[in-house]
Amino acid sequence: MPREWDARTYDSLPLPHLGWGRRTLARLPLRGDERVLDAGCGTGRDTVGLLDRLPAGGVVALDGSVRMLDQLRERLAGRLDRVEVVLADLTSPPLPFEGEVDAVFSVAAFHWVEDHAALFRTLAARMRPGARLVSDCGGRGNIAAVNAAVAEVRGTTPGGWEFAGVEDTRQRLADAGFTDVEVSLRPDPARFEPGEQLESFLATVILGAELDGMPDDEHEPFVKAVAGRLAEPVVDYVRLEISATRAG
Ligand SMILES: C[S@@+](CC[C@H](N)C(=O)[O-])C[C@H]1O[C@@H](n2cnc3c(N)ncnc32)[C@H](O)[C@@H]1O
Repeated sequence: MPREWDARTYDSLPLPHLGWGRRTLARLPLRGDERVLDAGCGTGRDTVGLLDRLPAGGVVALDGSVRMLDQLRERLAGRLDRVEVVLADLTSPPLPFEGEVDAVFSVAAFHWVEDHAALFRTLAARMRPGARLVSDCGGRGNIAAVNAAVAEVRGTTPGGWEFAGVEDTRQRLADAGFTDVEVSLRPDPARFEPGEQLESFLATVILGAELDGMPDDEHEPFVKAVAGRLAEPVVDYVRLEISATRAG
């Protein structure tokens, strides 16, 4: 399974993910009776937005983090009758729910999966022909300045992400059986208050995998050292936005 998350701190942060979620939702046409997979749903912020647009439908809320899904259940208490909560790893096909979905929606999750060709095949296998995929994730060039700061502090470049480019992604989607493919990269830097807010964001959202492998007493100095090396309290996000249709 993928790494665990500090779900409560995550939800307390000023997340640029809110805007990414809204933009991605706006790219998904829905009648209102569909079954939609929220892939890497996290604490369910966008699952709520999906449910609001699916009065006669439902959401498969899938994530690999127990704590994120616990937070989602809390957030969606009273509405869980239309939500299938699935603890699963997007890298381990077949995805463990019954049948097919009418659409796949995903925000800020796909870059955590290193093999995008396999990811798109795994998703396609659970999508009915004609189903739409809309997603946002980190793309080519994402958080390059943060990664450079980490490399200066640690002496090694952080890995474990796939920040894909437009052409690679088009090809992988076509190979996995998608048509009507639209892919773009959008620089979207996010500014934080220097000090605690920036450091909490870095620790919870970006540096978690680095911190997992480090003794607890080294966490704070490491995060401060990375934050201190940024020219501005800005995370240099570049978003990879995908819309595509599962071929018939
Ligand atoms: C940055 S959070 C985004 C969560 C939510 N979509 C949002 O926008 O707030 C990334 C999420 O992807 C999930 N994730 C990462 N890799 C995964 C994998 N291989 N399988 C399932 N979930 C994964 C994490 O557990 C986490 O909840």
